[in-house]
Amino acid sequence: MILDELRGLFSALARFYDEQATHAGPAMLAQVAEELARVAVGDITVPEPAPLPATQLIERLDPGADPVLGGFLGLADGLAWTQTAAYAETLSSHFLDNYGYVRLVGPTATALVSSTRVAVGVGVWGSGLYYPRHTHPAEEAYHVLAGDVGFSGADGVRRELHPGDCAHNAPYEPHELWFGAPGEDPDRSPPCVLLWAWVGEIGVDARLV
Ligand SMILES: [Fe+2]
Repeated sequence: MILDELRGLFSALARFYDEQATHAGPAMLAQVAEELARVAVGDITVPEPAPLPATQLIERLDPGADPVLGGFLGLADGLAWTQTAAYAETLSSHFLDNYGYVRLVGPTATALVSSTRVAVGVGVWGSGLYYPRHTHPAEEAYHVLAGDVGFSGADGVRRELHPGDCAHNAPYEPHELWFGAPGEDPDRSPPCVLLWAWVGEIGVDARLV
């Protein structure tokens, strides 16, 4: 039953952030872990399935041993996928066909679990995509669940991230991302999957800069 699977995903997320918060990571992860532990045992809204073209890309992924990635992939067809509204007017149709995310926790009616303190989501980006420089008022931690990801924050220095790696950006800090390893065939390669968490001013969407 989907509710049991959703409950399993939220338990895996709570364990994930609890573990991350005890390692040397951004201090905000303690707040995320605390809120996840609280909401993981609370009400979960069973979503109306709303796939996007990018949802199909996840079939190329191996769920592997990661309980967060595995839990998400097992449920992905039944979740409500979305895109940042302003991007639909700005980014190319190629980008929009290969990108989408699911709001797991957050203040909006579309999140599966409601929170006014923390927003958490999982997003998919096809190999070869470049996510242009953008910013948002919330402080953010990204964790790579699958794929090779280039990340650059305010210092403009590109760092290479791999599954298990974390990137952090301060409120309003501009950042940009590159997805996939060089030379990969985007038509066959698995997409990149990022888990992200926001704290602070979580009700305002990202915008390109
Ligand atoms: Fe961001």
